[in-house]
Amino acid sequence: MKQKVLVLGAGGQLGRELQRTVPAGVECVPRTRAELDIADASAVAECLADIQPELVVNAAAYTAVDKAESEKAAAHRGNAEAPGVVAAACAQRGLRFIHISTDFVFDGRASEPYRPEAATAPLGEYGRSKLEGEVAVQSALPEALILRTGWVYSSFGGNFVKTMLRLMGERDELGVVTDQVGTPTWAHGLAEAVWAAAARPQLQGIYHWSDAGVCSWYDFAVAICEEALALNLLSKPVKVRPISAAEYPTPAQRPAYSVLDKTSSWRDFAMEGVHWRRQLRAMLADFKELADA
Ligand SMILES: NC(=O)c1ccc[n+]([C@@H]2O[C@H](COP(=O)([O-])OP(=O)(O)OC[C@H]3O[C@@H](n4cnc5c(N)ncnc54)[C@H](OP(=O)(O)O)[C@@H]3O)[C@@H](O)[C@H]2O)c1
Repeated sequence: MKQKVLVLGAGGQLGRELQRTVPAGVECVPRTRAELDIADASAVAECLADIQPELVVNAAAYTAVDKAESEKAAAHRGNAEAPGVVAAACAQRGLRFIHISTDFVFDGRASEPYRPEAATAPLGEYGRSKLEGEVAVQSALPEALILRTGWVYSSFGGNFVKTMLRLMGERDELGVVTDQVGTPTWAHGLAEAVWAAAARPQLQGIYHWSDAGVCSWYDFAVAICEEALALNLLSKPVKVRPISAAEYPTPAQRPAYSVLDKTSSWRDFAMEGVHWRRQLRAMLADFKELADA
């Protein structure tokens, strides 16, 4: 019999990639926000009773990092309260739960990759609300698996890669921040990591997942330009200029260093990360194929 998995936030970047990567032994039941508001405790309980999954994956979140500074209540509802609601409902029915969190729980003052047990100290409302969500999940369901990731992009929805492609099509020159480093994560690979974790019911606690390697937003933008030119997604090269974060002020402060240590997930998921540049190339090819279809 197939493992029945309920995917919440199924309309988002990760939610959509989870549906494209369902392993052979899994029956995936997706629920978008329009179908289920995960902060609504009675709707969540009703959904679990109706679907009767073995595992729930929460890919839903309030992800507008800058807007969260002025929409604190909405960020708190989606990222702190809602995961607690789902975890409590899973605990009541004895279900496994995989929840997704973020590198923004860290302050970015480290100089070596953050291990899952490293001290947290979020800089903004988004990171604070996601950290509260982690705490709520672990207190309702200590056996839950929390997977932190960062710099997520895909062919779907809004993200840095798609914004760069648009701006590079419109401009001759672009300033991109060079003093913030991390690791881009193609949502497709993240989805595969979630399914690897799903297949290992003994796993619990906090894990990290991003693609392999390290870069700045500037390096990422240069790579996007080069790879997009090679695929004819751009018709002319664009000059990418390195600028400092101070020259590009945003409502939310972002960590200067948000590289995650993936040693434990590569070992326990039996899956090694792919270098971010190779994943970028694959995503752009996917994006082109979808656009041409
Ligand atoms: N994107 C990143 O760079 C990044 C970085 C680090 C960690 N993460 C984490 O990775 C996970 C997946 O992110 P993503 O990039 O796939 O995000 P996304 O594309 O913004 O998708 C999130 C989805 O959750 C839905 N949602 C929000 N509140 C909900 C609620 N109360 N009930 C049901 N659905 C709700 C959203 O619907 P609407 O669009 O209708 O609001 C959206 O479809 C999240 O936990 C996020 O915090 C993301």
